[in-house]
Amino acid sequence: MPSFRIRRAMSKDIDILVRHRHMMFLEMARPGKEELRALDESYRAWSRKMMGRRLFHGYIVTTEGGEPAASGCVWLRDVQPSPGQPAGRIPYIMSVYTDRRFRRNGLATMVMKEAMEWGRKKGYPRALLHASRAGRKVYPRLGWKRTWEMELAYE
Ligand SMILES: CC(C)(COP(=O)(O)OP(=O)(O)OC[C@H]1O[C@@H](n2cnc3c(N)ncnc32)[C@H](O)[C@@H]1OP(=O)(O)O)[C@@H](O)C(=O)NCCC(=O)NCCS
Repeated sequence: MPSFRIRRAMSKDIDILVRHRHMMFLEMARPGKEELRALDESYRAWSRKMMGRRLFHGYIVTTEGGEPAASGCVWLRDVQPSPGQPAGRIPYIMSVYTDRRFRRNGLATMVMKEAMEWGRKKGYPRALLHASRAGRKVYPRLGWKRTWEMELAYE
């Protein structure tokens, strides 16, 4: 089995994170190419800004040869103070993606464990994510549970 390494993403890695997020949406939602290209640009600017404010970071898994194989990010979202959540911020794990060629090698699990451990060490009481259909197979075995969050579409 090939071996993989995981590292924290730097600002120079933002293009990798943007590409992986682009591929994730292509698989999940199949939006139009133009929409996705525009989204890439705004996401690049947003992630750079949030990284600079230390409210966003990522993890990149690479092959032995240094090729990016998987990634995932943590965004520190502002939340209203509530019981059990004194910090006013919550880690939101997002954009978990594994290149098709490297799936079922535990890479998304590797990214998740790193992101989850980061939040635990920082002392956050919980973390959030929104699971895609494919992601639903990965997260429950890492301890994630469904909640009663709901949404309303205005159009
Ligand atoms: C969801 C996704 C990130 C999972 O990536 P992955 O790296 O293949 O995930 P893992 O390898 O950690 O786990 C997936 C499966 O591989 C299995 N697996 C883990 N390690 C393994 C190993 N060493 N050998 C064989 N199988 C392994 C897991 O048990 C799991 O099995 P299952 O499919 O039978 O449930 C990937 O399918 C993807 O990028 N999908 C499109 C984008 C997306 O939906 N992202 C999630 C957004 S929430």
